[in-house]
This record gives sequence, structure tokens and C-alpha cells, in this order.
Amino acid sequence: MISLNTLRALLFLGFLHSGRRSLTSAANLQEPPKSIAVVGAGIGGTAAAFYLRQEFGPAVKIDVFEPGTVGGRLATVKIGEYEYETGGSVIHPLNLHMKHFIEKLGIPSRKNLPSKMAIFDGNELVFEESDWYIVNFFRMLWRHGFGFLRMQMWVESILDKFMRIYQYQQYGYSFTTVERLLHAMGGDGFLTLINQTLEEAMMGDGFSQVFINDIVAPVTRVNYGQSVRINAFVGSVSLAGADSGLWAVDGGNKKVCTGLLYNSKSEIIPAKVTSISVKVRPSKKGNSASFYEVNYVGESGSAHSLYDIVIIATPLHQGKSDIAFSGFSPPIPSHYPGLYHETVATLVHGKLNVSYLGTSEPASKFTVSEILTTDSKSCAINSLSSLDPVHIPNGYRRPSASHTAVWKVFSPKPLSREQLQQMFLSYESVSETPWLAYPSYRPPHRNTPPFILHDRLYYLNAMEWAASAMEMSAIAARNVALLAHHRWHEQVGKIDQEDLHTRLRGEL
Ligand SMILES: Cc1cc2nc3c(=O)[nH]c(=O)nc-3n(C[C@H](O)[C@H](O)[C@H](O)COP(=O)(O)OP(=O)(O)OC[C@H]3O[C@@H](n4cnc5c(N)ncnc54)[C@H](O)[C@@H]3O)c2cc1C
Ligand SMILES: *[C@@H]1O[C@H](CO)[C@@H](O)[C@H](O)[C@H]1NC(C)=O
Ligand SMILES: *[C@@H]1O[C@H](CO)[C@@H](O)[C@H](O)[C@H]1NC(C)=O
Repeated sequence: MISLNTLRALLFLGFLHSGRRSLTSAANLQEPPKSIAVVGAGIGGTAAAFYLRQEFGPAVKIDVFEPGTVGGRLATVKIGEYEYETGGSVIHPLNLHMKHFIEKLGIPSRKNLPSKMAIFDGNELVFEESDWYIVNFFRMLWRHGFGFLRMQMWVESILDKFMRIYQYQQYGYSFTTVERLLHAMGGDGFLTLINQTLEEAMMGDGFSQVFINDIVAPVTRVNYGQSVRINAFVGSVSLAGADSGLWAVDGGNKKVCTGLLYNSKSEIIPAKVTSISVKVRPSKKGNSASFYEVNYVGESGSAHSLYDIVIIATPLHQGKSDIAFSGFSPPIPSHYPGLYHETVATLVHGKLNVSYLGTSEPASKFTVSEILTTDSKSCAINSLSSLDPVHIPNGYRRPSASHTAVWKVFSPKPLSREQLQQMFLSYESVSETPWLAYPSYRPPHRNTPPFILHDRLYYLNAMEWAASAMEMSAIAARNVALLAHHRWHEQVGKIDQEDLHTRLRGEL
């Protein structure tokens, strides 16, 4: 189901890609910046490098600091002869920036294999999708009335407003805070969404507690490892993640990051940034200029460089990064309040014990590939799914549960040996990635950190407190690139404008 607004947004995509530059080059009085640093090479940092190049042109030097693997929370592990995603894995069909990236970079999307879903309550499968769509439909209808259809419409009405951001960004508009950006998309309604729980918002709109427990909770658990008490905005992002048409990048999602780095002609510096300070130097013209000194530690020891603009593209939170900011007034903390939620991704190459799921089906007949879970004490896991490699070779068929296959378990804690032995009849290898995955979402909402930490120092991951997803980082990346550009050239007319939706309506 695609509504008129969504369709218009899609049509709009046509000239989104025609290379039309934002209408911002009118008042280029100041010289362009000489050098920009980006801290972190996840999708946020690499997309920022891409948009910074687009905004500031070919001359500026862009350095991207990354001590780990390019991709950050987009990561793969090799099991046997194939690679598998351990972090961010699926992308929504209306995530236009991600779509634009793969088109621009010439990377195909991964071949899609059909999948079948079930819901596990810790004892048995309370719902199992059948091959017979019509049977499912009546089963659902019997239990949940029109809850499903209404939920689709509910999510879609939010998505319609969400899509407005693409138009604003195409016209070069940017926002100084997450709240202002959300307000531009969906008005006060969107601010209410981040300030109440998904449960409250859906109950308020007439969804039943049973529906929320049975259907909504399993989705928030698989996508954010948390209950329906997450904020309603990230909740709706999560529910959109249960739409059809989800896709992934052929060869692994992190390929987008390496591609964007290459495309942006930025230099990757394999080092960890330890501190950033502000330095004032007299300039040739007599007035003084300020620079940011970025201190970093790499394999060849520590060093520092000066930059005109710095973009922080990693969460400034406990356990995620540890950057000291010195010489700033007011001070900038190394860590903002709020915690990141732990989700452990365990990839098991083995034979599933289907009786663990309380089903009497023989393993050879068990073709469910996605098992979600309800929010119950007896559920030690958030989800269990049969994984396909990041590249689907010709002739590949997903093994059935009676064969050795690669299964991905998301759980709030590492799985014990006993748990693994219960869930699997046998296994050849286990690969565990403990992620500090996404914020621990607890409305009511405190103010999110700002996008602007100082004059020309920006913070991309503030966005994650509305919702954490690849596309959200890409939207934040474009926003900070635009902000950095407009503030450099003092084009205030493109910052924090009110009522854009009405003003731009005539433009479509
Ligand atoms: C298990 C899991 C499942 C997910 N599933 C999905 C999904 O299906 N779909 C979806 O859209 N999203 C999903 N997400 C969320 C998504 O992966 C993230 O929102 C997104 O990848 C964040 O990208 P980022 O670039 O903003 O941050 P990151 O990827 O965290 O990048 C930050 C980078 O900064 C680097 N860094 C940290 N400190 C420093 C320093 N001092 N100096 C230099 N570099 C530093 C880090 O090494 C890291 O590479 C999932 C996340 C997890 C963990
Ligand atoms: C969120 O709610 C709190 C009170 O519960 C209120 O103080 C705050 O202003 C609200 N924030 C937003 C962004 O609406
Ligand atoms: C499979 O799971 C069932 C139910 O949890 C359990 O009783 C049984 O011992 C498990 N099988 C193995 C081989 O561990």
C-alpha cells in the first residue's frame, strides 16, 4: 500500500538523482574551508564525507578517522566459505538515501529469498506463517480483527510525514537540533511521538493491549532488543521494519561505507581520536581564526592535525567512544546522559533443535526462517533467524532445519553453553558479537544532544535518540553537511526554517 504522498516522494526521487545541486551557491563570499575531519567511518561518517564533498566541492581535504573496520555497526563475519551480517542488516524500500548510495556507487542489492515468520513465547510457537496466505489472513483476522490493516495505516501515516525530509534536504534546508528536524517533518505530533511510549501512543489510537503484546512487542524486540516502552517514533521505525520489500546490499551493507569513502575522495586515517581542542591563531589578514586540533593515536603513535570543521560521527556515550574536548566554553562532555542497549548477536553454524521451539513438526518440514519472540519471562532470546550469506551464490538454497545452517540469535546477554546446547542439537562454530547496539529508549524524552557542539564542530549521532537506523544516520549526515556549509557561508535562510511543508508544497 502506497499512499499519494509517498508516491509523490518517489516521483521526486527522479530529480533527487539528477544531480541538481542545492540552491545555495548565491552568496559565496567566504573562501571554502581547507580541511575537514570526520570522526568515525560507519554509515554516518562515510555518508557525511560524501555530502561534505558535494557541498564544499573538490578542493577541500577531508580526513576520516577510524581505528576499527570501516562500516562500524555494519559488519560481517566469515563462517565456512560465506560472510554474514552481524549488525545492521535490513533496509526499508523507502530509505531513499541508502537507495541513492547504492545507485550512485553501482552496487547491486542482494537477491531476495522468500522467508517465513513465526512467533515464539518461550514455550511454543504461538503463530506460524503458513504457505497459504489466505489461511494466515483468516487466522489473524479471527484473533486481531483489523488490527493489522490499521497498524499498516498507522505506520504509513507516520512514514508519509517522514518522507518530507528528503524534499527539505534536496532544497538544502538543515536543522540545528533533532527536535527541530522532527518538528519540520511531522509538527507537534512527531514531538509527542518521541515523548511517549509506543504502547501509550498505540493504545491512545485504539489498538488493544492484546494486539500490542502479541504482534507489536515481537517486532520491537527483534529490531531494538527492547519492549513496547521504547519511544513511539523509534517504535514506528521498528514497525516499518516489518514491512515487505526490505532489502540489503549485495556483498554486505558495509560496502556502502567503503564505496562512499572512495567516492568522496577522502582520506581514511586508521587512528582513534583521543581529544579535540579549539586553537586560535592570528590569520594573515590581521583578524584571528580558530581551528580545531584533533589528537589521535594510530599504529605509528600519536599525532595531531588542524581542521576548519570537525564532524563527530560516533555516539558520545559511555562505552561507545571516549573523546576529551578541551578549551570549550561551555564545556562539551565526553559522554552525554543515557545508555546504549546491549544486544548480543550470536551466529551459530549448526543444527537447530526444533523441539526447543515446542513444535512437533519434523525438522525436515520446518521451513520457518524468522522466529520473533513475545515479551515473556520464559524467553531468553529476542529472536532467532536462519541467515543467508551477504552474497547469494547461484543455485543457493536456504538449508532446512534438519541440515546444518547458520542461525543468528539476538539476546540481551551472551548465551551460556547450556542454552546453546538446548537450542542446537550440534554445532560446528559459534561467533559472538556483543553490540552496544542502539540507545536504551526510555521516554519521556530529555532533550537530545544538539547537532552543533561548537561553532564548526558538529555531532551526527544525536539523531539516534529519535531512532537508530542506517537511514537515520544518512539523514543526519546530510543534515550536518548542509549545516556546516550554510554556517560557513552564513546562509541563515537555510537553517531552522518553519513551516517548510506548506512553503514547499507548490514546488512539487
Ligand atoms: C545488532 C544490530 C542490528 C541492527 N539492525 C539494523 C537494521 O536491520 N537496519 C538498520 O537500518 N539499522 C540497524 N541497526 C542500526 C544501525 O546499524 C546503526 O544505526 C548504524 O549502523 C549507525 O551508524 P553510525 O555510522 O552512525 O555509527 P557506527 O556504525 O557506530 O560508527 C561509528 C564509528 O566510529 C568509530 N569510532 C568510535 N570512537 C572513535 C574515535 N575516538 N575515533 C575515531 N573513530 C571512532 C567506531 O569504531 C565506529 O566505526 C542495527 C544495529 C545493531 C547493532
Ligand atoms: C516531554 O514531556 C515532558 C513531561 O513529561 C515535558 O517536560 C517535555 O517538555 C516534553 N518534551 C517534548 C519535546 O515535548
Ligand atoms: C531439545 O529441546 C528440548 C526442549 O527444550 C529438550 O527437552 C531437549 O533436551 C533438547 N535436545 C537436546 C539434544 O538438547
